[in-house]
Amino acid sequence: MALFIGTHHIQLDSTDSTNNYARELLSSQKPTEGTVISATEQRSGRGQMGNGWEAAPGKNLTISLILYPVFLAADKQFFLNMAISLGVKDFCEEVLKEEVRIKWPNDIYYGNKKLAGILIENSISGSSLSSSIAGIGININQESFSPALPNPVSFVQITQQHHSLEELQPLLHNYLEKYYLQLRQGHYNFLDKAYTVALYRYQQTSEFIHKDKRFKGEITGVAKDGKLLVESGGKEHRFMFKEVEYVL
Ligand code: BTN
Repeated sequence: MALFIGTHHIQLDSTDSTNNYARELLSSQKPTEGTVISATEQRSGRGQMGNGWEAAPGKNLTISLILYPVFLAADKQFFLNMAISLGVKDFCEEVLKEEVRIKWPNDIYYGNKKLAGILIENSISGSSLSSSIAGIGININQESFSPALPNPVSFVQITQQHHSLEELQPLLHNYLEKYYLQLRQGHYNFLDKAYTVALYRYQQTSEFIHKDKRFKGEITGVAKDGKLLVESGGKEHRFMFKEVEYVL
């Protein structure tokens, strides 16, 4: 049982986006750390880079978690991404009984398909984080997706079984708390190692696209600032988010 994540749980029937709801809550009061907002329906779910997030009403987990990582220096904020990604990964693996991987920076992949997405929005005060909203969308019971989405997959498509969202959610809270506590205790090397070895295509020669050019390389890890490290042609290259694309 999680000790603080999900202890305060706001379940909404419908909202534009749970991340927006969390932001409004943060601007009007100080919700306790670990407050979770989940919604049966998001009318305008948000993804990374201004994209949307599709989730059929009542079928998937769409949650936002409020945290106050005041102990975390702003230049170490990527470690929060690592902790949340690892929590979601372990949760998926426990339910599916199959391996999933983290596609840098924080998508959860089953094979070459996207099972879950994460959108973390941090507020910074001085040189540290003051609050964070960790938005998590996991495809659970959705059987079909808009053809516009490149490669979605859901738990039901993998297991051929329906899953109870009410039963799954506390398990997700447990795993999120496990890794958040590692972060709070300053176990940066542990998080870095666990995240690195879980990376999709870690240490595999594969194809990438950078500035419209294809090249072959091998992911060797992630720098402390969150940049992806790819070795290619005997050199180490560092990429920021969206500077490099994977050829799937
Ligand atoms: C991505 O892969 O682009 C990130 C998707 C994040 C989706 C979740 S669903 C709950 C929370 N509320 C939102 O509007 N977005 C996040």
